[in-house]
Amino acid sequence: MAPRSIVFFLLLMSFAGGRAQSKQSGRINPGTSLSPTNQRYYSWVSPAGRFAFGFYQQGSGFAVGIWFVGKDKTKVVSVVWTANRDDPPISSNATLDFTTEGMLLLRSERGQQNLIANAICSVSYAAMLDSGNFVLYDNGSNIVWQSFDHPTDTILGGQTLFAGGQLFSSLTRTDHSTGSRFHLRMQDDGNLVLYPENTGDTSGDAYWSTDTVGHGSKFHLYLNNTGTLLIINGTISDTVYTLYENRASSAPNNNIIYRSTLDSDGNLRLYSHAYNESGDFNVSTLWQAFTDPCAVKVSCGFNSYCTFNDNQPYCVCLPGTDFVYPNDRSLGCERNFSEAVCTGGKENEALYRIQTMKNMKWGDRPYVEAPMSTKEECSRSCLEDCNCGAALFESKSCKKQSLPLRYVRRATNLETTAIFKAGITSLKNSNETDNQEMPLEDVRKTAIVQILLVTLGFTALSCVALGICGIYVFKSRVLRYQRLLENGNLGLNEEVTLRLFSYNELKRATNGFKEELGKGSFGAVYKGVLFKGRRLVAVKRLEKLVEEGEREFQAEMRAIGRTHHKNLVRLLGYCTEGSKRLLVYEYMSNGSLSDLLFRAERRPDWDERVRIARDVARGILYLHEECEAPIIHCDIKPQNILMDDFWTAKISDFGLAKFLMPDQTRTFTGIRGTRGYLAPEWYKNNPISVRADVYSYGIVLLEILCCRRNIEINISNEDEMILSTWIYKCFIGRELDKIVRGEEVDKATLENMVKVALWCIQDEPALRPSMKSVLLMLEGITEISNPPCPAPTSM
Ligand SMILES: *[C@@H]1O[C@H](CO)[C@@H](O)[C@H](O)[C@H]1NC(C)=O
Ligand SMILES: *[C@@H]1O[C@H](CO)[C@@H](O)[C@H](O)[C@H]1NC(C)=O
Ligand SMILES: *[C@@H]1O[C@H](CO)[C@@H](O)[C@H](O)[C@H]1NC(C)=O
Ligand SMILES: *[C@@H]1O[C@H](CO)[C@@H](O)[C@H](O)[C@H]1NC(C)=O
Ligand SMILES: *[C@@H]1O[C@H](CO)[C@@H](O)[C@H](O)[C@H]1NC(C)=O
Ligand SMILES: *[C@@H]1O[C@H](CO)[C@@H](O)[C@H](O)[C@H]1NC(C)=O
Ligand SMILES: *[C@@H]1O[C@H](CO)[C@@H](O)[C@H](O)[C@H]1NC(C)=O
Ligand SMILES: *[C@@H]1O[C@H](CO)[C@@H](O)[C@H](O)[C@H]1NC(C)=O
Repeated sequence: MAPRSIVFFLLLMSFAGGRAQSKQSGRINPGTSLSPTNQRYYSWVSPAGRFAFGFYQQGSGFAVGIWFVGKDKTKVVSVVWTANRDDPPISSNATLDFTTEGMLLLRSERGQQNLIANAICSVSYAAMLDSGNFVLYDNGSNIVWQSFDHPTDTILGGQTLFAGGQLFSSLTRTDHSTGSRFHLRMQDDGNLVLYPENTGDTSGDAYWSTDTVGHGSKFHLYLNNTGTLLIINGTISDTVYTLYENRASSAPNNNIIYRSTLDSDGNLRLYSHAYNESGDFNVSTLWQAFTDPCAVKVSCGFNSYCTFNDNQPYCVCLPGTDFVYPNDRSLGCERNFSEAVCTGGKENEALYRIQTMKNMKWGDRPYVEAPMSTKEECSRSCLEDCNCGAALFESKSCKKQSLPLRYVRRATNLETTAIFKAGITSLKNSNETDNQEMPLEDVRKTAIVQILLVTLGFTALSCVALGICGIYVFKSRVLRYQRLLENGNLGLNEEVTLRLFSYNELKRATNGFKEELGKGSFGAVYKGVLFKGRRLVAVKRLEKLVEEGEREFQAEMRAIGRTHHKNLVRLLGYCTEGSKRLLVYEYMSNGSLSDLLFRAERRPDWDERVRIARDVARGILYLHEECEAPIIHCDIKPQNILMDDFWTAKISDFGLAKFLMPDQTRTFTGIRGTRGYLAPEWYKNNPISVRADVYSYGIVLLEILCCRRNIEINISNEDEMILSTWIYKCFIGRELDKIVRGEEVDKATLENMVKVALWCIQDEPALRPSMKSVLLMLEGITEISNPPCPAPTSM
């Protein structure tokens, strides 16, 4: 506690003195630097004192950014830009150097260097402008870099969000890392759209848009200096759509500054900051994209919907479900009853009851949609169907859906009846059904009547009924499969809910688990055929499942079922019957990266390898940063990277680690036999973070570059036995062509990739870059400083 308050005290002090220095002129010369605790030089302030660029306090440390300067200098309230916003907080002894080469370099105490800004041309000086733009200039006073070109969650007056650009909401008002909740996209098709994060950005995911259409044009979002928010076609003079026109102000005024921010609640707002003579400002909201707080699609999680109480939005669970986390009700609901075993494709109806609600709607497509004349018929159809969790009866059509449901909405203008299947056996005390409360009795009675009816019906119709029943079940299945298949062909499969398979179905599909494709530590993978022989699948039978993992299994399945990324193997469905747990994946026809790199007759050529390296990085980035909760893969290695028909690399096995092994840290290393890829913290028994995957990725990257394993015992030259050590030597000795053995490669790309890999395999997790930085570096967007020597690989 004590050191922190000292830091804070220093900060207070520095706020008092910090402005004097830069007030003299807006020009910042190379060779100057800032430090969070330096009383004079912790920030550079714009000439009129409106904005500051420098260190501000964030969490337990600092971040580098731009903020509005108010009268109370100790308060940094409106941060408008943050550099590398997802990096961990910066320690108090870091420095920010504006080097004589014209780079803005952040140096932390361990010698780590992070580039904040780097222009391709030579830089003569920098300036923090009163518009809130931090700019680097060349010797002819041309702008070579500006923070306005790299918006985070805000655009300021005079700033443009160009076609293709995005704003990402911050986690909270005070934590400016990307919360991975919402983004605003200025689409190339001209539409300005708000999406929740981690969805496919399909029109079904959008929760607000301007519906502007500009195919073939360049539409940009522009906030002008007088607070008017516009969509422009190419140039400022060509307005195509006005989001908000500020009539109150017509001449640009240094005392009123406008900003438009994608706030952490997912709403896009326009604010004005009005300054008075004493340098104080107050903020007012001029406009917001929508007023209904329930408009944000993910404001309530799966199986729940948003409603109001005294203008406060809150989440309500659908019938038959309860909050997953009662303390955070926005995280969705899950079934609170135990499901009956599905025998012969028929539900044990006595264990369920139907509840209906009016005026509902939800997101995903139904797995089956059939014309029906009454809602009773629809209810019955859902009750009988093991896969049906809910149905929507709307204009004489019954749309059946399995859980979970997402984007559930309730609105008075929807002419629908929603039908939910609720259970009567509580999940929490499944052997105590007898002392349930009141409603059970009614349910029981109806259940008995139902049983009687069904039994009578069956006796009467006997074998004839059975025959018809069989045909009906068969037909409805075929229909279902065809629908799945059709959707797949149309490329709409992201909208299909995860499929629940029965064990027998999968047994049949794999011909009794006959053709084994591979064996992982958690169970073997078999080749199978589904959908009447039209789709190849890979079925993994999990064996070493921990009992407590049960709930997590389902949750995880659903979470992973929702991850859609072209560099992740897709999960099509799963089976959970008794103690049996199976996962059904898309089939990957071209084997693993390991086969390709180490075994194939034809080595993949250089360009192909570069592409694969980026593909894998994108997949991991998605798991780390773009999923609802970060997923640590824990087992990145070439064997787990599979190649599809088009040789796109896809990561497989993701997420299993998390729920299979509740006490991850220890048992883990023993179980997975892939030591060469494990980050050092595994051995040190330190907590594991996503940076463990970054380490594994670094090793894989080296292997991709050289088409050999990291450790080769049978190699004549001892120097080359351990790839990472050898490559570092070659890198230092400037002999990188050795490692590709005379192959024709692009030298600059090779060197870049080697540097990235060497950064990734640093011993200290904090030194490794995030996957986002890795990707930016691989794509040549950010420069890469020379990595320190990585620790020798443990064998
Ligand atoms: C900063 O430097 C001091 C002294 O060199 C060191 O003890 C400390 O761990 C470093 N980090 C922080 C956050 O102070
Ligand atoms: C600017 O820099 C370039 C190259 O660095 C140099 O050729 C040119 O003379 C410089 N111009 C001025 C005005 O200093
Ligand atoms: C946008 O501008 C371009 C070129 O100026 C023009 O061809 C196009 O028709 C414009 N689009 C719209 C939708 O106004
Ligand atoms: C901002 O846009 C509005 C509407 O197009 C216009 O009336 C106003 O003059 C513009 N302000 C500036 C500073 O360009
Ligand atoms: C701040 O808001 C108050 C009340 O809305 C207003 O009277 C005052 O003039 C504002 N201050 C500035 C600097 O605009
Ligand atoms: C404006 O200035 C006065 C002092 O001149 C101050 O008391 C007031 O709080 C300031 N702020 C606002 C927002 O009006
Ligand atoms: C499930 O939760 C709902 C809402 O809390 C409750 O009304 C219902 O009785 C629960 N059902 C079971 C079987 O526990
Ligand atoms: C349910 O029954 C099992 C075994 O019959 C018992 O171990 C368990 O404690 C019971 N659970 C409750 C909540 O009574």
